[in-house]
Amino acid sequence: MASFKSKIFHTVVGSARDIDADTLVFFCYDGDAPSGSFLKELDKDTDGAVSEVYKSGEFSGKVNSTALFRAPADWGAGNVLLAGVGKRAGVKQDNFRQAAGTVSRHVSLSKAQEIIFDCHSELDANRAQALVEGFRLGSWKMLDYKSDPEVKKENQQTISIVCANRKSEKKIEKGVERGAIIGAAVSQCRRLSFHPSNYLTPEKLAEEAKALGKRDGFSVKVLNVAQIEKERMGALLAVNKGSSENQARFIIMQYDGGRKGQKPVVLVGKGVTFDTGGISLKPGMNMHEMKGDMTGSAVVISTMSALARLGVKLNVVGLVPTTENMPSGDALKPGDIVTARNGKTIEIINTDAEGRLILADALDYANEFNPQAVIDIATLTGATLFSLGYAGAPILGASKQVLDRIRAGSKATAEKVWELPLWPEFTEQMKSAIADLVNSGGRPAGTATAAAFLQEFIGDYPWAHIDIAYVDLEPKGQPYIPRGPSGFGVRLLVETLSNWKQM
Ligand code: BES
Ligand code: MN
Ligand code: ZN
Repeated sequence: MASFKSKIFHTVVGSARDIDADTLVFFCYDGDAPSGSFLKELDKDTDGAVSEVYKSGEFSGKVNSTALFRAPADWGAGNVLLAGVGKRAGVKQDNFRQAAGTVSRHVSLSKAQEIIFDCHSELDANRAQALVEGFRLGSWKMLDYKSDPEVKKENQQTISIVCANRKSEKKIEKGVERGAIIGAAVSQCRRLSFHPSNYLTPEKLAEEAKALGKRDGFSVKVLNVAQIEKERMGALLAVNKGSSENQARFIIMQYDGGRKGQKPVVLVGKGVTFDTGGISLKPGMNMHEMKGDMTGSAVVISTMSALARLGVKLNVVGLVPTTENMPSGDALKPGDIVTARNGKTIEIINTDAEGRLILADALDYANEFNPQAVIDIATLTGATLFSLGYAGAPILGASKQVLDRIRAGSKATAEKVWELPLWPEFTEQMKSAIADLVNSGGRPAGTATAAAFLQEFIGDYPWAHIDIAYVDLEPKGQPYIPRGPSGFGVRLLVETLSNWKQM
C-alpha cells in the first residue's frame, strides 16, 4: 500500500466489475474497437451504449480522451470511465501517466472517492508507476494559503489497481510504491516553488531542507553568513549585499546510499528566493513569478528526498546557495568587481545576472567532496524562452558522458532536454577588459554564455548544467501538470541517478 496524505493506492486481484467503487476506470487503446471481453460485457450490459460512442466517433481511445457511463446495476461500481491511452503499437509509459492525470482531474471534479483501475494484464511495474505519478500530479493543488477550511480539505481518495493475478500484483506493487515516492517528491518541489518569498526566505528554505532531511533520511548542514564569509564565497555574498533583512544561507545535504568511500554525485540548485534584478531592476510585469527563482534548489532538495526514500545505492550531495536579489543602498552595483571563492574576479555588468554568481561559488565548493560528477540545475536565463520555450530544458556541459545520462533519464521520464553547444566563442564573450570575467555577455546566446561563465568555476570533474527557466512554470496546464510550478527536473534527476553507474 502506497499513500499520499489524501490518496491511498492499493493493488487487488479480482474481477473489476464485482468491486465496490464510485468509479471504475478502464484504459482503452486508440483504434481498438470494443472487442476485448471487458468492453463487450459493458456494451452488452449497457444495451449497446459503448458501441454507440465508438460509432459516433465521440470516443476512440485517443490519449487523454474519456467517456463516462452509468455502470450496469449489478456491477460493483457506480460509473465506468473509459480513458484513452493512444495507439497500442509503441504505446509509451508517458501515455499512461497522461491518461491517469486526465482521469485524476475528472474524478476530482466528480468527487468520487473510491476509484478502481482495471488495466488488463498489460500493466507492468513501469506503467503502474506512471499511473500513480500521473494520478497524483494531475489534480495536485497548492492549498497552503487558502483560508476557507472547506476549500483546504482535500478529497480523500482510495485508488485500487486491479491485477490479473498474484504474480503480476507483486510486480505492480513495486511500481506503485516507486510512483508514490516520486509523485510525492514532485509535489513537494511544486509546493516549495509556489511559496511566496515573504514566507520562503533563505533561512526558511534551509529549515525546510533540514526538516525534510530528518523525515526522509539525509543529513543537512547549513552555513550562515559568517561561515559563508569564512569560505570566501565572494560571489554569493555580493548578491546578498542588497538584502538588509534576509541573510544568505548555504545548504549542504548528504545522502549516503552508496558504499563507504564512494565518490558522490553532487547536485547544485539555484536558490534565489526572490529575484528583483537588484539595481538592474526587472520590469514590474510578471515580476511576482520571480518568487520561483529558487526552483533549482527545490528540485535538488526534492530529489534528495526521493533518492533517500527509494534507497538508491549511491552517495549524493546536494548544494544550495540561497539568497534574495534585492536593490537597496547596500546593494551590489553594475561596474562593481567581486572575487569568487576560486579566486577569479568578476566585473558586474548586470546585477540581474545573479544566478551564475551564486552557482559559481557552489560549483567551486563541490570540489570539497571530490565528486565523480556534478550536475547543476537553475532558472538561469530568460533566453531559454527563445530556444525551447516551455517545451524542454537546454542542457550544456563539458562531459558527454553526463549529458548522455541526462538524455537517457529524459527519454524515460518525458521531461524533455536538448543540448546547446559550449563553444569557445561563448567563453570569449564572458571575458572582462579589467577583471577576469564579466557576469553578462549581453543578449546574444544568453543561455550558452551563462553556461560558459559557470564553466570557469568547475573543478576537475565531469559536469553538466540544466537551465529550467520557463519549463519550471507550466503556463496552461497539461494532463499531469496543472498551471503553475511544474516540478520539472525531479523525475529527470531521480531517474538519471537511479540508473547511475560509477564514473
Ligand atoms: N532568474 C532570471 C532568469 C529567468 C528569467 C528565469 C525569466 C525565468 C524567467 C535570471 O536571474 C536573470 O535575470 N537572467 C538574466 C541574465 C541577463 C541579465 C544576462 C536574463 O536572462 O535576462
Ligand atoms: Mn536575475
Ligand atoms: Zn535569477
